[in-house]
Amino acid sequence: RTTAVILAGGTGQRVGLSIPKQLLKIAGKAVIEHTLTTFEKADSIDDVIVLMAPGYVPDIEKIVAKAGFTKVKKIIEGGSTRNETTERAIEALGEGLAEGEDLNVLFHDAVRPLLSQRVIDDCVVALERFQAVDVAIPSADTIIVTRTHGEDGEFITEIPDRSRLRRGQTPQAFKLSTIKRAYEVAAGDPNFQATDDCSVVLKYLPDVPIHVVAGDEYNMKVTQPVDVFIADKLFQLASTAAPEQVSEEAYRELLTGKTVVVFGG
Ligand code: CTP
Repeated sequence: RTTAVILAGGTGQRVGLSIPKQLLKIAGKAVIEHTLTTFEKADSIDDVIVLMAPGYVPDIEKIVAKAGFTKVKKIIEGGSTRNETTERAIEALGEGLAEGEDLNVLFHDAVRPLLSQRVIDDCVVALERFQAVDVAIPSADTIIVTRTHGEDGEFITEIPDRSRLRRGQTPQAFKLSTIKRAYEVAAGDPNFQATDDCSVVLKYLPDVPIHVVAGDEYNMKVTQPVDVFIADKLFQLASTAAPEQVSEEAYRELLTGKTVVVFGG
C-alpha cells in the first residue's frame, strides 16, 4: 500500500499572516485543500494522513468533511520542527502494520498545492526499485556557497557547477522501514539537524541510494509573502498550459489582462 503524509505542522512565520499559510485561500480553496484534492485523485495513493499545526486540527477536519475526502484516514498534530512532524507520522504509520509488513510512504509539504499527478506516479513507480526517492528540478540561478566573516558580512567560498545542482521539492518517498531506520540512527546523534527527510537518509544510512525523480516548476513551495500571489497566478496558468510550455492560449490570456494579478492592490 502507498500512503501520502501531508506535512502541515508549520505556522508560516515567513508569510506572516494570522493563520498558517496552508489554510490561506488561493484560487478559491485553502492551500491544503488543493494538496489533498491532488492525492485524493491519485490512483497510486491508497491512504492519506495529515499532520496539522497544533490548534488547527478542527479547521482541517472541517475541510476534509466538507470536501468528502475518503482517503484521509488520520489527522494528528505535528511536532515543533518539520523533522519532528515526520517522526510523528512514522510512529502513526507503524501502528497499523502487521509484523514484517512494509509500506510506501510519500512525505509532501502541504504548502506545495500545485503538485502534479505525473510526479506522484513517478515517485510510486521509483519505489518499486529504490528505497528512497527525492523530487528535484534544475536550478536556473547560479548557487553560491558563502561564509560570514564578522562585521564584513558574507563572502563566496565556492560556486558549484550549476549543471549538477538541483532544487529539492517534495514529495520525498520511502519504504517506511527505511525512513524509520534512518530516524532511529539519527536519534543517537546529539547534533541532529535537518530540514528534510532525504538528508536524514543520506547522512544516517549512507549506503542507501536516493533516486531523483524530475519535479516541475509549478510545484513551488508557498514560503514568502510574494509566493501567495505567484501561486494564485500559477493556478490560472496550470489550467491551460503544461509547466514546460507556455501555450498560445495562455499567453493570449496574459496579454488581454485576464490573468493579471495586481500586487499591493
Ligand atoms: N512543517 C511541519 N511541521 C513543522 C514545520 C513545518 O509539518 N513543525 C511543514 C509546513 O507546514 C510546510 C512544510 O513543512 O508544509 C514546509 O515548511 P516551511 O515552508 O518551512 O513551513 P513553515 O514552518 O510553516 O514556515 P516558516 O518557516 O515560515 O514558519
